[in-house]
Amino acid sequence: MSKNLAVWEKAKREGRKMTVITAYDYPFARMADAAGLDAVLVGDSVGMMIAGYADTLPVSLEQMIYHTRIVAKGITRALVMADLPFGSFEESPAQAFAASAKLLKAGADIVKLEGGAVMAETIAFLSKRAIPVCAHIGLTPQHVRQFGGFKRQGKTPEAGAILIEDALALEAAGARIILMEAIPAELATEITRRVHVPTIGIGAGNGTDAQVLVLHDVLGLNPDKAPGFAKRYLEGAALVQAALAEYADDVRAQKFPA
Ligand code: KIV
Repeated sequence: MSKNLAVWEKAKREGRKMTVITAYDYPFARMADAAGLDAVLVGDSVGMMIAGYADTLPVSLEQMIYHTRIVAKGITRALVMADLPFGSFEESPAQAFAASAKLLKAGADIVKLEGGAVMAETIAFLSKRAIPVCAHIGLTPQHVRQFGGFKRQGKTPEAGAILIEDALALEAAGARIILMEAIPAELATEITRRVHVPTIGIGAGNGTDAQVLVLHDVLGLNPDKAPGFAKRYLEGAALVQAALAEYADDVRAQKFPA
């Protein structure tokens, strides 16, 4: 069962790649689980993929609880990871615990939070209180205002060294998984080699222990432009639009109902 984090740790030791996809609702969670994905991430990207927001900042804890609940309903085997949204955990470890407990009660197996070494105290607090944590570093979309856009991170040796320090501090604090977004492949590979916990990459090359992609990028359903590192496996939007147009044509031509 990929729900057990020991399975992830064993996979890292044995060099077996793990697979993660985002999901925001019951039908896609069921399909991801049946397809054999090792984890489903209820990402705060729900704000951009489902709610039509420009970034993830407006996503509320209540939205995350709702989507976690309906995703978890569709999962029998995969690990359910849920994002702590912007504003729900940064103030204090106690605030993070209250929010994380709600996500676990909704069906999450592990929470994910964005931030580097500054979050070590919070991760230690959560880890000692029955909350497994995935730490998300690199391009952390909740910092988009600070970064001045969705910009790749860790591009200079100095910035890379800070990310390595972040990863080591977060592991030492008790993070069970480290997720790295949009950083150089060599840096992500180096961090994967230096930490003992499994790493997940997105736009970070092929040297991480696992990969994650956003469901709507994979299926061609992203309402906006998908990032360059994503791979599209289906022309979803075109297929859906064609099916809907065919239905409308049938009704107009009195072919449906027969
Ligand atoms: O919210 C999300 O989908 C994420 C992934 C981009 C890793 O955090």
